[in-house]
Amino acid sequence: MYGLHHDPKIWGDPFNFRPERFLDSNGKFVKHAALLPFGAGKRSCLGEVLARNNLFLFFTGVMQRYSMKVPDGHPRPSEVGEGGLSIAPKRFEIKVKVRN
Ligand code: HEM
Repeated sequence: MYGLHHDPKIWGDPFNFRPERFLDSNGKFVKHAALLPFGAGKRSCLGEVLARNNLFLFFTGVMQRYSMKVPDGHPRPSEVGEGGLSIAPKRFEIKVKVRN
């Protein structure tokens, strides 16, 4: 999974956060054949719809209520994760403000 989603031969610049890579020239979403976070085929993830809906509700809920920025003088969070049972982000500092 990590190799597939970080392969420079497929993505060019996999470590750059560039969501517009999934949009066509009219701004419409285009599904990329190599984007497979839930696997593929007969054994693909059974919880995909539940997971996608929950992630959407959680992420949009947080973004609607709070704004976030890296505090002055602190580095941006690393794009390289930390290994364990799964790959998790390294520790980072973030300033969270309630939106008005
Ligand atoms: C962001 C959340 C999730 C991600 C990224 C994810 C990803 C995956 C991946 C990559 C596989 C293996 C697919 C393969 O072998 O090709 C898988 C299998 C599976 N997932 Fe998820 N999953 C997520 C959430 C969930 C949830 C919420 C459930 C259940 C409520 C779930 C249930 C399953 C089950 C039962 C399988 C095994 C399917 C089988 O082997 O036939 N997953 N998932």
